[in-house]
Amino acid sequence: MSTVLYPGSFDPFHLGHLDVVAQAAELFGNVVVAVMHNPDKPSGAFPTAERVKVAQDACAHIQGVTVEAFPGLAVDAARKVGALCIVKGLRTPADFEVEQQMAHTNFAVAAVRTVYVPSDPALSFISSRYIRDIAANGGDISSMVSPATLASIVAAFSPRS
Ligand code: PNS
Repeated sequence: MSTVLYPGSFDPFHLGHLDVVAQAAELFGNVVVAVMHNPDKPSGAFPTAERVKVAQDACAHIQGVTVEAFPGLAVDAARKVGALCIVKGLRTPADFEVEQQMAHTNFAVAAVRTVYVPSDPALSFISSRYIRDIAANGGDISSMVSPATLASIVAAFSPRS
């Protein structure tokens, strides 16, 4: 049984992410879902605390999973939780291009390894970006997010009075 770190921006956490967490929990035992900042992505719809809550609600039924926000570098978060490695999901060859560069960089600067798990092909079309887009325009996102999180994600886009 090992601990692994699954870092991401999770803005918001969706069924594709959940599949990666489930695979990682099965393979390694303990998964720390690390809600982090991606400098390449503008700050999205969800504040960090909400991203953590949505990921917690989605993962509540999987044993060995904790969700936490971390500032700074993924490698520092990995060290802090005593992770054996970082885990990332791969949906497409485009994901691989980006992830491989991050994996090499994280190994070069801190000797932290990355293990990839392939996305469930039935879920590999899902992206947080389109979930935000569809939810913001009142569309139906229920096929892309966990039922446990649907209401909070929809509410985040409702006009607040
Ligand atoms: O879900 P994302 O947006 O693809 O996740 C990217 C994320 C947050 C994992 C990446 O941007 C990251 O690791 N951010 C923390 C800062 C860091 O470690 N930067 C160096 C990357 S080599």
